[in-house]
Amino acid sequence: MDRLIDEKPANLVIVDNFFLGKQRNLQHAKDNFPIKVYNQDASDYDAMKEIIENESIDVVFNLAVIPLLSSHVNPVNDWNVNVNIVLVLCELIRKNKFSTLIHFSSSEAYGSAKKIVMDEYHPLHPTTPYAASKAAADLLVLSYCETFGIDASIMRPFNNYGPRQNEGSYAGVIPITIKRIMGGMPPIIYGDGEQTRDYIYVTDTADAAIDVFNNKNTRSKIINIATGQEITIKKIITTIAEIMEFDEHIIYEDTRLADVRRHRGDISLAEKLIGFKTKVSFEDGIQQTIEWYKENIIIQT
Ligand SMILES: NC(=O)c1ccc[n+]([C@@H]2O[C@H](COP(=O)([O-])OP(=O)(O)OC[C@H]3O[C@@H](n4cnc5c(N)ncnc54)[C@H](O)[C@@H]3O)[C@@H](O)[C@H]2O)c1
Repeated sequence: MDRLIDEKPANLVIVDNFFLGKQRNLQHAKDNFPIKVYNQDASDYDAMKEIIENESIDVVFNLAVIPLLSSHVNPVNDWNVNVNIVLVLCELIRKNKFSTLIHFSSSEAYGSAKKIVMDEYHPLHPTTPYAASKAAADLLVLSYCETFGIDASIMRPFNNYGPRQNEGSYAGVIPITIKRIMGGMPPIIYGDGEQTRDYIYVTDTADAAIDVFNNKNTRSKIINIATGQEITIKKIITTIAEIMEFDEHIIYEDTRLADVRRHRGDISLAEKLIGFKTKVSFEDGIQQTIEWYKENIIIQT
């Protein structure tokens, strides 16, 4: 949102039913721009049609999602919501209610790496219902591009991290680890910790989203957004522990259900199409992230 405000749009509208989203995360944007927030389920066609028409929306960035860990307990909801939001948006753009769709996919659509590095032609082998919903939604967007000529691009980010990331239910490893250490509890590694991810700082992804929108040559394509580097979960957790001066033991628990083993994105297409280059190193990004949680999150002990 902050990055969109930099672009000085004529109008900026957020649709979020606050399934996991938090109003407090919008405060900075609200202080800088007269954004309008609709507390609305984006998979409701009629409601979305009304908002898009009333607000004269031209471009939709679709980030709304039910996250991966939720699909372990309620797979039906992940599937229905993640696919239906995209179906609604595809239908509305097909009917010329808005002009351009920038859809956020996920590297989870690939499943575990069958080859390193993973380019956009890597087979789709989703390991969780969440990942399946992300893969299906992408195919839906591509099918609307092909059949109806909609103006849409698909960014496929690998793992993201940074300030304001959800640290509550279904939170990812970085916010959880920071929060546990802040509360005086040892971090947890699920499995052996040797599983890898390609972690990109949130502002690099936000910059890429603007560049994808601004470059017409990204249309009808899926584009990886990543650093091109992989890092083990163990390294992430030990780095956070080191920075936070936590020198007690780390707990090991069973491998997470259907956990991806290895991820490392090939970013050649993004480099070619949008001149993509990350600006924030993991060392700087993790430092800034920890600082943010320390300043903004109160731990109840
Ligand atoms: N975070 C990552 O590591 C990561 C990695 C790859 C791809 N992505 C993708 O990037 C996008 C954003 O991810 P994120 O991590 O910021 O997610 P997030 O969970 O922080 O944000 C998603 C938002 O969608 C909202 N939402 C859920 N259901 C909704 C509904 N029916 N209607 C309206 N809003 C709804 C939630 O309340 C939340 O604010 C998603 O498409 C995700 O798949 C994220």
